[in-house]
Amino acid sequence: AKLNQLAKSKGKLYFGTATDNSELSDTGYTAILDDNTMFGQITPANSMKWDATEPEQGQFTFSGGDQIANLAKSNSMLLRGHNCVWYNQLPSWVSSGSFTAAQLTSIIQNHCSTLVTHYKGQVYAWDVVNEPFNDDGTWRTDVFYNTLGTSYVSIALNAARQADPNAKLYINEYNIEYVGAKATSLLNLVKTLKSQSVPLDGIGFQCHFIVGQVPTGLQSQLSTFAAQGVEVAITELDIRMTLPSTPALLQQQKTDYQNTIAACSAVEACVGVTVWDWTDKYSWVPNTFSGQGAACPWDQNFAKKPAYDGIAIGF
Ligand code: XIL
Repeated sequence: AKLNQLAKSKGKLYFGTATDNSELSDTGYTAILDDNTMFGQITPANSMKWDATEPEQGQFTFSGGDQIANLAKSNSMLLRGHNCVWYNQLPSWVSSGSFTAAQLTSIIQNHCSTLVTHYKGQVYAWDVVNEPFNDDGTWRTDVFYNTLGTSYVSIALNAARQADPNAKLYINEYNIEYVGAKATSLLNLVKTLKSQSVPLDGIGFQCHFIVGQVPTGLQSQLSTFAAQGVEVAITELDIRMTLPSTPALLQQQKTDYQNTIAACSAVEACVGVTVWDWTDKYSWVPNTFSGQGAACPWDQNFAKKPAYDGIAIGF
């Protein structure tokens, strides 16, 4: 069976992948991407981010995002909106602007509201806030936090809820897959938001892992967050290695993918798994982590790696 079929047969909503607009002209790539028995869910890797959707204040461009949304629709795949508010890939009018609290509040409200409204009815879940914390558990001191303190999170979540009451609203984060200061800060934020009845439905675990270093506490962390009354999802899975890849590394990677999938499988509130692109040909890893790569379940020639079988076994 193919991976989305397998995921669904085990009670998950989907197995999915990130994709990007520039990849869609590669017919070898789309031949595999377009199969919804393999991928039941799509996340745009870049084209719904703030720099892509509101490059100048009040001027919205949805052409890239629409291409991905239309692909999801024509293939009957769920769509994950990514993302509304993030410190990275911001247009400079936001990142280097100096705003009063009132001004930035309405900028966030207008961005979230216009973006989420545009895709209303088409999105299963939105990453409303992406990566709010530093690894040491302190808040990222970006323009949002510096101007509004922690209140920017509820401002964004409330605007998104109003714009599309049926979309699941997530906070998405990395390095929360094991017990530590960052996970504790996020858990405390979830508790606070829930106690204040701020709309929050889910926590995304990015899961950008390293071969041989998949956190053993992943399943327990998924359960710990779910116990706060949210669903959870693995939203950006890849498992990188120091290049060149070897048969031994590929076998370890298979085990690592299997264990990661099994953690989601074992937690009822874990709704699905998304890989951060399915082929090494289009992985973000080599561009970001020098000397590392081969992080995806298919190689750069679209051949399945041992990791593919690891995912299948993990479900
Ligand atoms: C990455 C994209 O894949 C790249 O193409 C881009 O150059 C940088 O961003 N966490 C996230 C994603 O939430 O948005 C990032 O995506 C990867 C890390």
